[in-house]
Amino acid sequence: MASIPTVKAKGLRACLLCSIVLSQADFVRNGCPNCEELMQMKSSRDRTQNCTTTAFDGVIAVIDPENSWVARWQRTSKYARGIYAARVIGRVPADVEAELQSRGIKYRVRDEVDQD
Ligand SMILES: *[C@@H]1O[C@H](CO)[C@@H](O)[C@H](O)[C@H]1NC(C)=O
Ligand SMILES: [Zn+2]
Repeated sequence: MASIPTVKAKGLRACLLCSIVLSQADFVRNGCPNCEELMQMKSSRDRTQNCTTTAFDGVIAVIDPENSWVARWQRTSKYARGIYAARVIGRVPADVEAELQSRGIKYRVRDEVDQD
């Protein structure tokens, strides 16, 4: 069980796909708890840099992930509890985007605050 990082701690990054906020060290150590299957950033600092960003804000706690907007791209209730950014700037790498497309998942750049 990953500990919830302090919002003000340095080195926090948000996943470009699911917006979960963790330290870079956590992403490198464990990958993304939600989208590692697609992102494959575990053990790769470079990949972590490409798949996550420090350009995020509006950090929100997800108390009930099963009813969260995070679930939209993924029809499963297996996404992690934790903190998520309301706004993340950047795009997932092209290979991830292609993979999402091939699975019929519509990827949308989250450059706006989600309203619901
Ligand atoms: C990260 O992105 C850069 C620039 O697009 C690319 O050259 C590099 O190969 C990528 N690294 C990984 C591990 O995906
Ligand atoms: Zn993710």
